[in-house]
Amino acid sequence: GLPEYIKIVEVGPRDGLQNEKMIVPTDTKIEFINQLSKTGLPAIEVTSFVSSKWVPQMADHKEVMSGIERHPGVQYPVLTPNLQGFHSAIAAGATEVSVFGAASESFSKMNINCSIEESMERFEEVTKSARNMNIPVRGYVSCALGCPYEGNVVPDKVAEVSKRLYSMGCYEISLGDTIGVGTPGSMKKMLEAVMKEIPLSALAVHCHDTYGQALANILTAIQMGVAVVDSSVAGLGGCPYAKGATGNVATEDVIYMLNGLGINTMHHFLKTTPTFMFLSAFLNALSLLIT
Ligand code: HMG
Ligand code: MG
Repeated sequence: GLPEYIKIVEVGPRDGLQNEKMIVPTDTKIEFINQLSKTGLPAIEVTSFVSSKWVPQMADHKEVMSGIERHPGVQYPVLTPNLQGFHSAIAAGATEVSVFGAASESFSKMNINCSIEESMERFEEVTKSARNMNIPVRGYVSCALGCPYEGNVVPDKVAEVSKRLYSMGCYEISLGDTIGVGTPGSMKKMLEAVMKEIPLSALAVHCHDTYGQALANILTAIQMGVAVVDSSVAGLGGCPYAKGATGNVATEDVIYMLNGLGINTMHHFLKTTPTFMFLSAFLNALSLLIT
């Protein structure tokens, strides 16, 4: 059967705002995240501790991290590509981080300026330091269903990179359809390969909606038992190093589908919050970006 509870990881403030041409003011970002914290979402990805030369949209990571109100029961992970990013994140008060690798060599080079092998060495340094500090680390695998530079990506490669990340201590592996080219067919094949290497409970899917396949791909994944789904409010998102990719699947669409399936999505602290309250918090968050 389907999972009873699905954890949604809201990536709008990071995946969404990293891709906006206009840099969103820091105060607006903070207010956006504060509003999202009231919706019952269990995890909100706040920002990235990456180079501001590469992604100027995330240059205010320190201010955003220290400016937000943190709610009990909500996780606030941030992206850290290397030890330098990890140390800055911790200094700014992060209590959870994510490393982000890829199943495609060309994408790894374009996105984080190193080979997959080099990235794994960097991530091992991060997971090692994180373990000593009791900081949970999430691991992303980009290009899990296709690469903007290499096209097809074989499921075995996704399984191999996922296994590496899981073995070094990532508690959850988020499989990213970075450019949104996957279909329920390719999602199923890829997950079958990954599930041979990693427990189902450690898997997440991260779908972009370029060809309108994201909800179908998510449904396929949850029917196979995946219980963690990344999404972005209003469908914001994209990767500066993946041209042509449109936004992430919209959080409100995922919640609408999961509600229809009778699946709970609110973290336990807020299970009793009336629907209208979290809906209006969503609307408040959105209106900040529109005005
Ligand atoms: P590099 O240039 O190879 O790094 O960048 P380096 O180690 O050679 O250092 C060069 C300079 O960068 C130095 O500064 C370092 O201090 C600095 P300088 O001496 O020239 O002034 N530097 C840093 N600064 C801030 N934070 C750091 C850091 N590390 C080094 N952590 C690096 C390597 C990874 C930093 C760079 O390539 C980068 O920042 N890339 C950005 C990647 C990114 O954010 N991409 C978007 C997110 S991934 C995504 O969207 C996909 C996902 O959503 C899943 C999916 O959809 O599939 C996750
Ligand atoms: Mg993404």
